[in-house]
Amino acid sequence: MINKIDETRKNFDDDLLKINNLSSLEDLRIKYLSRKGTVSQLFESLKDVPKEEKPKVGQALNKLKIHTQSKFDEMQEKLKENNSASEKFLDLSLPGRLHTIGSKHILTQTLDEIKNIFRGLGFSVHEGPELESDYNNFEALNFAPDHPARDMQDTFFVTEKFLLRTHTSPVQVRLMTEKKPPLRAIMPGKVFRNEAISAKSYCLFHQVEGLYVDTDVTFAELKGTLVAFAKQFYGQDVKYRFRASFFPFTEPSAEMDVWWQPKGKSGRWLEVLGCGMVDPNVLRNVGIDPEKYTGYAFGMGVERTAMLKYGIGDIRILFDNDKRFLTQF
Ligand code: DAH
Repeated sequence: MINKIDETRKNFDDDLLKINNLSSLEDLRIKYLSRKGTVSQLFESLKDVPKEEKPKVGQALNKLKIHTQSKFDEMQEKLKENNSASEKFLDLSLPGRLHTIGSKHILTQTLDEIKNIFRGLGFSVHEGPELESDYNNFEALNFAPDHPARDMQDTFFVTEKFLLRTHTSPVQVRLMTEKKPPLRAIMPGKVFRNEAISAKSYCLFHQVEGLYVDTDVTFAELKGTLVAFAKQFYGQDVKYRFRASFFPFTEPSAEMDVWWQPKGKSGRWLEVLGCGMVDPNVLRNVGIDPEKYTGYAFGMGVERTAMLKYGIGDIRILFDNDKRFLTQF
């Protein structure tokens, strides 16, 4: 029996030398230390040992048990440590993972640029809600009750009295109602039109509204400001013109055109914004005395402005989220 114990210990030590991972260590545990393992079997056969030898054999068996168990524990500890060390190991020679860096959408970039230019000209930036009242969007802006823009075909009505704003001009009404002149602000934001979608028009787009109200504001100042903007935005040599126009909320009204010259093709005039002197009716509607104050206003489409500047032919591509297009800017 003592011989068997010595032999088991020797075999165990030999086997242990061959262990190099946790799964072979598990095999070793099953072979020696499990319920059916060699060490347990030896304990089983203790009952057949003659009485007088039992203390000696028992002692030797206990020693074997302690030896194998402690060697097993030691090895397990060591292998686990190695394992987590290899998990933590950082191979600096591996090529890095490529992270594509995002960029601002071309419309956001255009809006930022427009805002910066007008900030430089002394304008602050105000925003208003996309869900507007019929009053702010139309009535206060001097739209006659039967004006075609009020038709369901052009406007997304939410209820009879509320709608998705069709332009940023209602923010003028909000600003003039909330604050007293002098006022000088631009008002950027999304607007919505119930229009057939095509290369030229989309149901959603962005506008930047401008407003300046003070004593003695003149049309010449309006022109000066818009020309200064156009030169900064499109370039010093931009070709522009003002045409007489009509808007219910301005009198007189005008539109500004910019010459569009695609390379190798014939150029043409493109309308970039509407503008005019704030109609006295609008001033009255917001509680500003038109005898004391005058003002000018303008409104431009951001998509159109970006398309003109960057030579983009189809408005829909601005809303497609096609990375092949977006990453060009
Ligand atoms: N709100 C007009 C539109 O959506 C644009 C506009 C024209 C705004 C003239 C103005 C303005 O402030 O004075 O077509």
